[in-house]
Amino acid sequence: MIAKKDFYKELKLRGYHYNGAFQAVNLARSDGLFGRVQWNYNWVTFMDAMLQIQILGTDSRNLLLPTKIRKLKINGVHHFDLMTKMDPENRVFDVYVDPMYDRIIAGGIEIFGLHASLVQRRRPPGIPVLEEYVFLPFFSSSILSLKNAARVCVQIAIENNPTLKLKLVEVGADGKNHMLTEFIEAIQDLPVITGDYILLTSQNLEDLPGVHIENGSLSTQTNCHIIIIGGYEEDEVHEKITSAYNVLVDNGYIVFRQKCAKNVSCKIAEKFRTISKIPINNTEENLVLLQKISKKLTVPPVLVKVSQHDKTFEWILELQSAIITKAPVVVYSFNKKLNGQIGLVNCLRKEPDGNLIRCFFIDDDSAPDFDLSHPFYSTQYSLGLAFNIYRNGSWGSYRHLQLLKNDQPSKRLDHIYGNVIQRGDLSSLQWLKGPFNSQNCHIKIAFSSLNFRDVMLATGRLAVELYGSSRIDQNCVLGFEYSGINMLTGRRIMSMVVKGGVASYVEKPSKLIWDIPDDWSLEEAATVPVVYITVYYAFFMATDIRKGKSILIHAGTGGIGLAAIRVALAYNLEVFTTCSTANKKEFLLKTFPKLKESHIGNSRNTSFELMVHRETNGKGVDFVLNSLSEEKLLASLRCLGKSGHFLEIGKYDMANDNKIGLGCFLKEITFHAVLADSLLVAPDEDIWHLKSLIDMDISNGIIQPLPVKVFLAHEIEQAFRHLIGGKHIGKVVIQVREQPHDPSTLPVRVLNQVYFKHNHTYVIPGGLGGFGMELADWMAIRGARKLLLSSSRGITKDYQLYRIALWKTYGCEVAISTADITSKKGCAQLLSEANGMGPVGGIFNLAVVLKDCIFSNQNVNQFLECFAPKAIATTYLDDLSRIYCPELEHFVVFSSVSCGRGNAGQSNYGMANSVMERIIEHRNREGFPGKAIQWGAIGEVGLVADMAEDKIDMEIGGTLQQRISSCIQELDHLLCADASIVSSMVVAEKRTMRSGQGNVIDAVMNIMGIRDLKSVSLSTTLSEMGMDSLMAVEIKQTLERDFELILTPQDLRHLTFQKLQEFIDAKEKENTDGIQIIFASDNKLLGMELLIRNLGDEANCDQIIIPLQTSAAPSKQNLQPNIIIPGLEGTAGRAWYQLGSKLQSPAIVLQLHQFAHLENLKDVAQQSFDQIKLILKQTEPFYIIAYSYGTFVALLLAEMLENSGFRGHLMLLDGAPHFLKRLTNLHLGEQFSDNDLYDLLFSSIVNHIFPEASKESMSTVFHQVDCLSDKMSLFMNYVEKQNMYSKKYSSTMVKAMFNRVKMAASFDLDGIIKIKSPITLVRPAEASLQDIDEDYCISLLTSGVVTLKVIEGNHTTMLDNPSLSQIIDDFDPVLLEDKHFEEYIRNDKPVSVV
Ligand SMILES: NC(=O)c1ccc[n+]([C@@H]2O[C@H](COP(=O)([O-])OP(=O)(O)OC[C@H]3O[C@@H](n4cnc5c(N)ncnc54)[C@H](OP(=O)(O)O)[C@@H]3O)[C@@H](O)[C@H]2O)c1
Repeated sequence: MIAKKDFYKELKLRGYHYNGAFQAVNLARSDGLFGRVQWNYNWVTFMDAMLQIQILGTDSRNLLLPTKIRKLKINGVHHFDLMTKMDPENRVFDVYVDPMYDRIIAGGIEIFGLHASLVQRRRPPGIPVLEEYVFLPFFSSSILSLKNAARVCVQIAIENNPTLKLKLVEVGADGKNHMLTEFIEAIQDLPVITGDYILLTSQNLEDLPGVHIENGSLSTQTNCHIIIIGGYEEDEVHEKITSAYNVLVDNGYIVFRQKCAKNVSCKIAEKFRTISKIPINNTEENLVLLQKISKKLTVPPVLVKVSQHDKTFEWILELQSAIITKAPVVVYSFNKKLNGQIGLVNCLRKEPDGNLIRCFFIDDDSAPDFDLSHPFYSTQYSLGLAFNIYRNGSWGSYRHLQLLKNDQPSKRLDHIYGNVIQRGDLSSLQWLKGPFNSQNCHIKIAFSSLNFRDVMLATGRLAVELYGSSRIDQNCVLGFEYSGINMLTGRRIMSMVVKGGVASYVEKPSKLIWDIPDDWSLEEAATVPVVYITVYYAFFMATDIRKGKSILIHAGTGGIGLAAIRVALAYNLEVFTTCSTANKKEFLLKTFPKLKESHIGNSRNTSFELMVHRETNGKGVDFVLNSLSEEKLLASLRCLGKSGHFLEIGKYDMANDNKIGLGCFLKEITFHAVLADSLLVAPDEDIWHLKSLIDMDISNGIIQPLPVKVFLAHEIEQAFRHLIGGKHIGKVVIQVREQPHDPSTLPVRVLNQVYFKHNHTYVIPGGLGGFGMELADWMAIRGARKLLLSSSRGITKDYQLYRIALWKTYGCEVAISTADITSKKGCAQLLSEANGMGPVGGIFNLAVVLKDCIFSNQNVNQFLECFAPKAIATTYLDDLSRIYCPELEHFVVFSSVSCGRGNAGQSNYGMANSVMERIIEHRNREGFPGKAIQWGAIGEVGLVADMAEDKIDMEIGGTLQQRISSCIQELDHLLCADASIVSSMVVAEKRTMRSGQGNVIDAVMNIMGIRDLKSVSLSTTLSEMGMDSLMAVEIKQTLERDFELILTPQDLRHLTFQKLQEFIDAKEKENTDGIQIIFASDNKLLGMELLIRNLGDEANCDQIIIPLQTSAAPSKQNLQPNIIIPGLEGTAGRAWYQLGSKLQSPAIVLQLHQFAHLENLKDVAQQSFDQIKLILKQTEPFYIIAYSYGTFVALLLAEMLENSGFRGHLMLLDGAPHFLKRLTNLHLGEQFSDNDLYDLLFSSIVNHIFPEASKESMSTVFHQVDCLSDKMSLFMNYVEKQNMYSKKYSSTMVKAMFNRVKMAASFDLDGIIKIKSPITLVRPAEASLQDIDEDYCISLLTSGVVTLKVIEGNHTTMLDNPSLSQIIDDFDPVLLEDKHFEEYIRNDKPVSVV
């Protein structure tokens, strides 16, 4: 049984992205015949989930969507009956898929005759950036392309001067000879980094996208990061470089285009360091990278040696203490080739104070011992570079260069085949390396003939599932007809095959094969098999045309049309035909002199029907050979005369289950489906019969080749497009070889593909993980038949068993090993288990354990755990495989961009991957196979997808999660590349402006993975929203770097989106730097002050019931309204009007102002009840939503309603007797006097509502006045100073509040009578009281169900939280109607189902 999470993961891999309520399948059996679906009172999602169950039953990665069902039966009473017998908390129905009766059943629902159609899958977002990761000397003698040279310059600049936005200026380029675009491309391939690009030129140039072109001078620029200078005479260069100095940022760069023979002027030496020099191919130029010298390094660095074989990781503590000193730190290693220091430092440099860390990686025996005072090292150190790697006598660093495809057109000797890379996209038609060994193939193809079915397959209109239920049969499908040479006999042959005819070889001949007559060319022969097989099958096996007199043959100039006309005429039938143009008609008349012009109709409409009736005097024809569809098919049927035969060769109407009326059969006609491909699996006698018919008519000359249009192999796309264009006459073929006996094909571009050997064993540590399962799957499809998956825990999920069972159906032997790969013994055992299955052909190490945290919190154990499956296991597997795996062809490790580019918090992971990369390089140097792939974040499966859950579109560090289908698609390219280390990631689209309005918010949202600001409360702190320490580092760095906003860690904890918005607003207004965010968290309101924020709304205070303007749809206007009871002030204020406007159902506010004088809660409730019962219908449930003090009234009101036969639901918004009583006592004490309460009320109200009042302590002021009337007069003095509230209203309100607080304080908690209605408590995350139960003890208030929801905000701000209206809407009356219905059923009340 596949669990829900894995079920939807598998569906996602097939292109189904179900979310929310549509994820209703709880469990599903792997054969797709049984499952369990959650009942959530939603018929649509439930029935959809029923359909989802059967998806697992097919082996596919295609998206097939239900397009038709034949019948749907819903027995609602039975369904509800079953449901009511289930556990109300967990209602799950069994779903059965019954193939025998073609139905799906669950509860009272039956779905019959489900029909699904193939739908194009969405393309994965973004194009992956594929690169190689190589050591490159700073002063390289190897020549680079301009694109790569630009990449190197940009990467060095960013590595050493991290910034998110570069300003790049190019000067001196004459005309089109600029190189800014290459630099832009290099920046575009980097995650997150954006740029401002300026080209200074006096020439009129066409617009360059994203580039500001200006006829200006360099001296007017400021804060440039990189200035490209070129095209100047030697005497001008010095001046240009000097003026560049002034406009560069500190440590900024010049890229100087230098003619190879010349040297950069030594005069600039004091102002710039020469960092790198790169010769460019196809030019006479070098790119010289100069760095502006801003500050000389003076503080001596702390040196930390990172050893390679030290499993005690003693250097961790040493490095941690060094980083704390905030002095420069040099991390070094000396001649430890397999040291993971580069990945380590890449990650450390992304952490706080990381810019102080430099890496010296000495990998050259000839280097002097490491000593920074030695000029060899001190000179290099003085350059201030982050990475200093010494190898093969040169200093250099690791760079990501473009990974180019080596697919130049060439002649090929191997098996290649044509296919689309992206189904549905003809422009992706290409030749691919095929799975067959050409040595073992019997047939060499000379011409591949195309048929319409190939077009349907390539364009995705026909599913590859046609070729069998397993994906293993679904590659290499195009082409089912060819001519060529049988290499065993040397004879020229023509044949029809099941698939794979558009290829260079066919492995084995099919039975439908003929020797080519001597007078036919191979080109001509390729036009014969399919058309004549179809015609002979239709004419002489499905029926017998010799027994008739007339025939209508559609599409007369098509391949089959031509062949059919030829044969029909030869057998003396009267032929009617159709075609689409006058030219084609002319061709037909010329080709077949016997054909009458009056017998040729139009194939584009149904006018041929009239022609047939006219020419046959209404009698109709004896046969129709039909390839037309829909209304033309129906018209063709009507062309048949009595006892006629309809020979249907088109599949369209049959595939779409189109209808024909039975009336036509009154003429005793017969309908024959003629599917020639079924002959490939027909009984031998049928095939021999057909062959003998064809052989005979070849020899007597009836069968003749058709006209043909030939395309060369590299024109494969044009060939398909020509066929689709429909303008051709006869056949379209692709010429594969120059001469039939040529062993090599015509020159073509071929996409390399990796195939695995059937007899070899492939070992995959981590093979049961997310990527591992997909890799194993791909390997099985690519020929691997012996898989050994290694895991520390073995099988833990049914999903793994499901996939393994599938591979077994492909003929794979799959074994699981739990040998401990973190020990040498375990690795030896693993390899020995593998060798037991067959010689080891490949080891793919995907095992991983993550132990992420900032380096200052890392420890030896975390490093060890992370190292074990990667660095340690790979070391052993490398050593041992050299001995025990002599046939090894693949040794692949999965590394990460975290290693190649660094990632805060992953120093151990970065380092472990780096060790693996060094091992791979070492292996390659010593002639052993090896490949490391640095992956970016991967979507759908694997550790990132598991963490990101459904957030597949979430950006991670400026990259998008690369869909696993895309990773798998790129594997061929990555594995076939020459480079030892390659990388693949999808760079997310960049926001071009990072410093405008809103972008600071975007940046923070991005880091926190928040997609929509509407989903969060603006006033909630980022910490409350789940900002962890890693995110905090990134946010802090981003704010500092991009927005000059410097925050202390404490500020960061209190940061909210609201504050960020204020910052943007202030910045917009002032447009100056250094604007501070005011952190008002110290002004946090507490207790009583939180509750008394306003005196309500005086305007409508006398109305008891105020209807709110809501967003309820007209159909819902008449539903029972939500009854809202406000808080202490008792009237409807702004918050309620706002909330109301967002609600999807009607709502009223029950105002208590009229009852202000009442001192007894029961009286207030009774008066409220008298009003409310007038507007409520007893047949519908009531919904009371009470806020704060309103909850006292709500509870009594609910009790009274229940006693009068109403039923309903209560929602309490941060209010409940236990909570409010405790809060009151907290601020007034257990024994407070009336005066105390009045003092508190007066002072709080004055403080908050009349802020312009005196600044003295209000409570003291009121306290000093003795009698109540004097207190009231004093209060009125303040009231007079404002004009918001009248005196009468203010005094009534204070008295009302007094009464309400007293009622709350004297509320008898022990005397509570439980109501029956369910209660939902919604409370804010920022609690006003700490020492109270989470649910405010509301379970003591009701015998019904209690639900607790917590939303962001405090007692007051929670009312502004958009999710509140959402929660209220979740009382969806439609839903409740269902529940109501269920209750009726449960109470055995009669139900009438209409
Ligand atoms: N997913 C990504 O986004 C991403 C990105 C970059 C790189 N990568 C790399 O891709 C590879 C696969 O990652 P994934 O996403 O598929 O991770 P995953 O789903 O977590 O799978 C990793 C597997 O490694 C296995 N493993 C851990 N320790 C092991 C041990 N001692 N012996 C044998 N197996 C062990 C685990 O199985 P047990 O627990 O049963 O042992 C687990 O199934 C990793 O090397 C990762 O570094 C992944």
